[in-house]
Amino acid sequence: EERQDCSRRTRDANHATGELHWRTVPQPGRHGRLRTTRSASACSHVGFGVVLAATTEEASKDAAPDSNSPASTNLPTTVSPRDVAAAIVANLPRNDVTEEGAEVAGPGFVNVRLRRSFVARRLADALARGPRAPAARRLRRVCIDMSSPNVAREMHVGHLRSTIIGEGVARLLAFVGHEVEKVNHVGDWGTQFGMLIAHLADCFPDYNYKTSPPTPLPIADLQSFYRESKVRFDKDEEFKRRAYAEVVRLQRGDADATRAWSLICDVSRCDFERIYERLGISDLVERGESFYQSRMVDVVRELEERGLLQEDEGRKIMFPPGRPIPLTVVKSDGGYTYDTSDLAAIRHRIVEDRRDWIVYVVDSGQGVHLENVFAGAAMAGWYDLERERVQHVGFGVVLGDDRKKFKTRSGATVRLSDLLDEGVRRADAKLREKEREKALTEEELRRARDAIAYGCMKYADLSHCRTNDYVFSFDKMLEDHGNTAVYLLYAHARIKSIARSAGVDVAAETARGTSVSLAHEREWRLAKTLLLFGEVVARAADDLMLHSICEYMYDIACRFSEFYERCYCIERREDGTVASAVNVGRVLLCEATAATPVACAAPQSVGHPTAV
Ligand code: ARG
Repeated sequence: EERQDCSRRTRDANHATGELHWRTVPQPGRHGRLRTTRSASACSHVGFGVVLAATTEEASKDAAPDSNSPASTNLPTTVSPRDVAAAIVANLPRNDVTEEGAEVAGPGFVNVRLRRSFVARRLADALARGPRAPAARRLRRVCIDMSSPNVAREMHVGHLRSTIIGEGVARLLAFVGHEVEKVNHVGDWGTQFGMLIAHLADCFPDYNYKTSPPTPLPIADLQSFYRESKVRFDKDEEFKRRAYAEVVRLQRGDADATRAWSLICDVSRCDFERIYERLGISDLVERGESFYQSRMVDVVRELEERGLLQEDEGRKIMFPPGRPIPLTVVKSDGGYTYDTSDLAAIRHRIVEDRRDWIVYVVDSGQGVHLENVFAGAAMAGWYDLERERVQHVGFGVVLGDDRKKFKTRSGATVRLSDLLDEGVRRADAKLREKEREKALTEEELRRARDAIAYGCMKYADLSHCRTNDYVFSFDKMLEDHGNTAVYLLYAHARIKSIARSAGVDVAAETARGTSVSLAHEREWRLAKTLLLFGEVVARAADDLMLHSICEYMYDIACRFSEFYERCYCIERREDGTVASAVNVGRVLLCEATAATPVACAAPQSVGHPTAV
């Protein structure tokens, strides 16, 4: 019915009509065989070849489960797409999802209309049990490498992106049934610890490293501590020598050096934890680079034994097929590299831990490194593309308002805790600007402030296509219109207030079988949008592009506004009091609407509109 409009906004027009399209999928090697798959919203034209005479019968049988139907035979030798569409229409089985009377449109589309009874059933189910998505066809044991800051170095906005996107991916994959482990691949090993340990001994000569349990080091700002030690390392030869000696001791497993290293890691861990707590991120398993020390030795031995390493000016390198640059597995001084620890990590994840989907949520700048590691692991036979899925979920750089790399005004790296504080301060100001402190208790105001502050930062990140660079702007993310967390929070709160002020007991009405109202054209549009939930989630759970979920949530909010503009749920009397005429079916539609984005947010973060 709206075919002409489809050309520009294909997906939307399709949402509007709720058509189901029958797509014919060409099967290489099975020439002429026609297969049909049903897709609830894709309004794309999937072309197909000509049906040949030799397989005509088979093709029409395949397209038509009801082979008694007259149209199942007699296809001409060559058929136009419209003829194929007509054959499909003639053979569509009677069912309780689509109305009778499907029709052919345009160059060979098949338009079908959803039955209202089907939509009402699905929404009643969503109201009773929450919207659901189809479980993934193959359930996997997923490992998500995310966040992964470096000890004693600043956890910066790049790590914030990895944390937010990684958490979104984790919740999404768990939602569709996968078993998910989130791994924090912390940079907690390397030569920088030599200078940190040497500096530590000088700064705290009287510090007792051996108390049990260990007393936290009195270092408030580990990054400044790192910078101080680096300055000394660069200009003091004697200090440099001591730093190297400490590295050697640490690598040998010397007890004092290990204790000092561990105390330094503890300081960083506390800083990271505070950030994770503020962002509502839990169950992140810390398995930093240090975890792979002995495994790196094993990996080098294995690769060497299998003849996969080559000597190159004292280094040991590996050339995975098809990769332009080699992996450096052992440096000329015998030390290991970022390549070595990632080879050990991927081996551990797949071979030891038996994970069959490894997701690296790491900035796109590390793409070459990761592709090399994946190719190296495949070369070593640790994984097989048929069995395991190993993938880099890359993301772009965070830019400031000036579209340059995100920095403070003085040009320094922005500390994450300062950034979160700023978000909280701005959210608080926004609420006070709207005089919310007059309506809310102090505790409610605090919760609203945090939901807005952290929600808006997460949502701003998730709602942009992750592969693009992204401009961090508090002004933009705190806007109360457009696809922002503030707008969606507001829309959600407003929708939830409808059933409350109408005094409708949603659970009782659902249990009683009261039907969602679908008579008005705007109710119908909204309902069909809600029905896309499963498909949107399933698609995002495959391509791991979370912005599509945000776009969908925004779509729901827009469809809701259009509906609410025309369809009254509660008739009010002149004096503003609630009249007896409450349209309960409409109130149920409001509730089904509010339930959808909440299903998009994880249960523990309702309030933070984090997509999944
Ligand atoms: N620590 C690294 C960094 O800050 C990120 C680690 C990503 N994960 C990995 N397996 N390499 O850049």
